[in-house]
Amino acid sequence: MLEISALTKRFGDRTAVDKASFVVTEPAMIGIIGSSGAGKSTMLRMLNRLTDASEGAIRFQGQDITALTGRARRKWQSRCAMIFQQFNLVPRMDVVSNVLHGTLNRRSTLATMFNLYPREDVETAIEILDRLGVAEHAAKRAEALSGGQQQRVAIARALMQDPAIILADEPIASLDPMNAQIVMDRLRRIHDEDGRMVIANLHTLDTARRYCDRIIGMRAGRIVFDGTPAQLTTGVARDIYGAGADFSESATSTAIEQDEAERPAARMAEPA
Ligand SMILES: Nc1ncnc2c1ncn2[C@@H]1O[C@H](COP(=O)(O)OP(=O)(O)OP(=O)(O)O)[C@@H](O)[C@H]1O
Ligand SMILES: [Mg+2]
Repeated sequence: MLEISALTKRFGDRTAVDKASFVVTEPAMIGIIGSSGAGKSTMLRMLNRLTDASEGAIRFQGQDITALTGRARRKWQSRCAMIFQQFNLVPRMDVVSNVLHGTLNRRSTLATMFNLYPREDVETAIEILDRLGVAEHAAKRAEALSGGQQQRVAIARALMQDPAIILADEPIASLDPMNAQIVMDRLRRIHDEDGRMVIANLHTLDTARRYCDRIIGMRAGRIVFDGTPAQLTTGVARDIYGAGADFSESATSTAIEQDEAERPAARMAEPA
């Protein structure tokens, strides 16, 4: 359904993404890992058409995504919603309005100016917030919420677009381990329940292993690994990160030290 072929992005004489190719045949949950500067963000930005590829092609369900312009490009951008490390909410605006921002693509400028949202959109927004466990904060300003809550609002805003693909650029990099786990659990659940494809840049190996069906490893713009968590051995990880023999997985870990049996308890302890 998604086919990336020899996708390349150059900034001047620097190649940020270098002939990257991969095919996704079903709505999988995919993690992209690699050290800083490997090209992970640039890859997602090209997928979303936030930035133009220098060369190569993106096809989704037979459509040539790289060729889209104007309205068609904006339509694509709402089909592959993006989530960012810094949430990118409007801090002083209430939570529901932030979520309704996800419908901006299909509303008139005038309606937007006057904050006129169809009643059914407001109801949908509340339902989505409820699904993410943050409906009780709907009327608060976004800035009054914790980081983990804000990221769940950002996911709600993405879902408001009813996207086929959710692109997440380091969605948990600014969160403490507990909130990181809550956010990843929600993303995984959305993937499982809705069948949406999720592609997430993750800076920790253990998160990628734990939540993703497939992991793509990037190094210096190239895809150097594409496989299952089980295939991602320490040796492979060392190669992806370009690390020496002193490479330790714990250096890329955000894990909360606990076993599976304790996870529901952790969820219950989630801050209100
Ligand atoms: N707008 C830009 N102009 C010039 N160079 C850029 C630009 N964006 C990214 N680059 C360069 O492209 C390369 C890949 O950057 P990118 O942000 O995609 O890496 P990344 O894997 O997301 O890194 P990080 O883990 O630090 O977020 C880097 O060398 C970066 O300096
Ligand atoms: Mg990045």
